[in-house]
Amino acid sequence: MTQTPDHASARPPVLPVLTVLVASVREGRFGPVVASWFAEQARTHGVFDVRVVDLADIELPLALPASSPKYAGDAYPRPAGMAPLTRALAEADAFAFVTPEYNHSFPASLKAAIDWHFTQWAAKPVAFVSYGGAAGGAHAALHLENVLTELHAVPLRDRLAFARYLTAWEDGLPLDPAAAPLAKNLLDRLGWWARTLRTGRETEPYPG
Ligand SMILES: Cc1cc2nc3c(=O)[nH]c(=O)nc-3n(C[C@H](O)[C@H](O)[C@H](O)COP(=O)(O)O)c2cc1C
Repeated sequence: MTQTPDHASARPPVLPVLTVLVASVREGRFGPVVASWFAEQARTHGVFDVRVVDLADIELPLALPASSPKYAGDAYPRPAGMAPLTRALAEADAFAFVTPEYNHSFPASLKAAIDWHFTQWAAKPVAFVSYGGAAGGAHAALHLENVLTELHAVPLRDRLAFARYLTAWEDGLPLDPAAAPLAKNLLDRLGWWARTLRTGRETEPYPG
């Protein structure tokens, strides 16, 4: 007896979408160097459909509407130039924030991107890839962790932090040989959370 091939189970799984956010919008910024390297690590890793969103390309006013994005859903009145960001956040299964440290925190551009949205973050994992002076952006990552729990996002325990970034990178690559293995560990765990939480959201709407 010939067996009917199970086409459904033979279909390759749809990779979870990882959106890499470039947080710095400063003139002469270093952020795109770190973001390009990390996005390449994620592509090579192979478990994500990797997309990069640069906040410098997004219309991000600081003045928010009267209502809250928590309750307004799709009716939240966002500027037209924010649509690519909103779409990217909604489609993402996981995020990596590539962030510098400004005055022991993360930049206002990233806070604006966060505050203009709410449901887009819920029940999704977030990894931090930070860079800066002596602390490598650790203060920025700690502040982000606090902010993201309010949005029902899931900050990862694993982080990449590049201290003294000016001398720690050459030709677009980190000099520390541990950087790529650490990125792999982080991506392994980010992938687990992305797949697990995507299944969870598909099984039952998150009670946000
Ligand atoms: C307003 C401002 C505040 C900063 N504060 C810190 C800080 O608190 N800690 C730190 O390690 N680096 C600090 N830096 C240095 C940045 O980490 C460094 O300039 C880095 O290049 C910023 O990232 P970007 O070039 O992608 O904007 C600060 C830089 C700026 C512009």
